[in-house]
Amino acid sequence: MASDFAQQVKGSVDIVRVIGDYVRLKKAGPERFAGLCPFHSEKSPSFSVHARLQIFKCFGCGKGGDVFSFLMEYSGLSFVEALHQLAEQHGIPIPKRREGAEADADAKHREALYRAHELAQQFFERQLFEAAGEEALAYLRRRGLGDATIRAFGIGHAPAGNRLLSLLERQGFGEEALVGSGLVGKPEDRPGYYDRFRDRVTFPIANQTGKIIGFGARALRDEQQPKYLNSPETAIYKKSAVLYNLHRAREPMHQKNRVILAEGYMDVIGVAGAGVGEVVASCGTALTQQQVRTLRRLVDTVVVNFDSDSAGQSAVEKSLQLLLEENFHVKVLELPGGLDPDEYCRQHGADAYRRQLDHARNFSVWLADRARTKFDLSTAEGRVDAFEFLKPSIHLLPDKIQRAAVANDIAERLGVNPGLILEEFRRSSADRGRRAAPPSIKHPLGHSERLLLELFLDSPEARAEMLPQTAEATRAQQSAGAAIFQAMLAAQESGEPFEFSAIEGRLQPRDREILSQIVFDRDRQPFAIEQGRSALAAIERQGWEREYRAVRREIVEAERNSDRRESLRLLQRKVELERRLGVLRPQA
Ligand code: GTP
Ligand code: MN
Repeated sequence: MASDFAQQVKGSVDIVRVIGDYVRLKKAGPERFAGLCPFHSEKSPSFSVHARLQIFKCFGCGKGGDVFSFLMEYSGLSFVEALHQLAEQHGIPIPKRREGAEADADAKHREALYRAHELAQQFFERQLFEAAGEEALAYLRRRGLGDATIRAFGIGHAPAGNRLLSLLERQGFGEEALVGSGLVGKPEDRPGYYDRFRDRVTFPIANQTGKIIGFGARALRDEQQPKYLNSPETAIYKKSAVLYNLHRAREPMHQKNRVILAEGYMDVIGVAGAGVGEVVASCGTALTQQQVRTLRRLVDTVVVNFDSDSAGQSAVEKSLQLLLEENFHVKVLELPGGLDPDEYCRQHGADAYRRQLDHARNFSVWLADRARTKFDLSTAEGRVDAFEFLKPSIHLLPDKIQRAAVANDIAERLGVNPGLILEEFRRSSADRGRRAAPPSIKHPLGHSERLLLELFLDSPEARAEMLPQTAEATRAQQSAGAAIFQAMLAAQESGEPFEFSAIEGRLQPRDREILSQIVFDRDRQPFAIEQGRSALAAIERQGWEREYRAVRREIVEAERNSDRRESLRLLQRKVELERRLGVLRPQA
């Protein structure tokens, strides 16, 4: 079992920090943080992280768990992979692995692919500075890249021939890993394999933790086709999810609360080289919703900075829809002279680029300008067409005030009356239903049960003193929290570490939901053990009162049936309950 080690890792990481790398979390209480859920699409945060209990929960989609479950769900890792990833990142030495027992076949396969990419990266980087890499190095230098940039981005050279293949074969990689990695291809018409990347400059593509999962490879000469050759989809490279440079951009993104979205590898490198680190690109594919969501959880503003050619401009249009749908604050930067970001930075320098960035236009202004060049606004038809062109984007704006501002921008750029535009928007958005707030299930626990529950989560002393009694009292009364206290007791008695997940694992879905609701509901100051004692007393008292009422009814019944033995027994019980309840009345 990896259990002791898992506990050690869990104890040395902070779930708020780990999740904070993937989700922009805001403090929502003394112990609670909230953000946009990474597991479903939402516009207002229903995703919570509890700092003391080290758990997360989304009340929109129901996903929840500990730091391992988060990484497993988020990155599609197995438990062991999540464990190892956290250990590696926090410098915790990983105990020698018992072969076979832990890693399942999929995890092993992925691990082989990571290893193959690591070796490929070392190989390509080395090649760039060997004799065979001379042309590639000269090419990069011609494009203004110094050695520092080349090393920072891990740019390399894939030589002609099948040298990577030989290297990987020598390292013992079999067909499954070779072909599965995408680094090697298999010709249909003859046996054997070949290197996918030959005679090209290589740009390593990393996942969010910085592990290399694929390559983009650029031709060195015009006659080489295609210009860019990218890794295929593999078990570790999912194109629609990956953004080039995201692992390096994350920190500056966090600081600036914005990201610059570029089109290509060289653009990212150029912009980052200009000192603007918060820049990413999708790798040789159109922007996807998944990529947009990944960014949205990290920053509020995106600056789209694509090429100024017509392909680039229609790519901007398409991206705007996706970005607005996710509630981004969107700006568009179109660089003068029809230059792409890489060319602009090289020709005009870092300062000029940053000035341009400061003047990036709000997307609505950009769109209105675009409408002006696309349609003839001197005719009524042209204006209608322009409006139809603009409507879908405006339609996506959730906020009334923002819509009004955008209507103004557009009216001004198009030279029409803003009132008219606004009226149109009002009409087009009238049918747009308000998004429902995340459902809030009312948990059915009374004050005392709830207090004890929270106290037990915190305090081993309280558990030792009162948990068995509480479990018993709530079970006897069949009260709402009974199952949760039973689960706590079972977890306590099992001898495993007393953790949220150990309790959750022993509960039916409904009770699990109640438990999460309570834990994330509102933050309070921790309860004192004394308050727990009063709460337990109150619960027990409730039970006695209920029993007392029942006993009195049963006495009447027993006397009516002249059942002397039964009524005597009941009378004794009644006196005992009266003593406990402090209602000593003279016997009739
Ligand atoms: P440079 O010419 O090196 O400056 O590249 P660029 O980024 O200016 O090129 P371009 O605008 O043509 O392409 C932008 C991005 O689209 C590239 O970074 C690639 O990710 C992708 N791309 C370009 N050409 C190809 C291609 O032929 N095949 C594939 N799969 N992707 C390409
Ligand atoms: Mn370019």
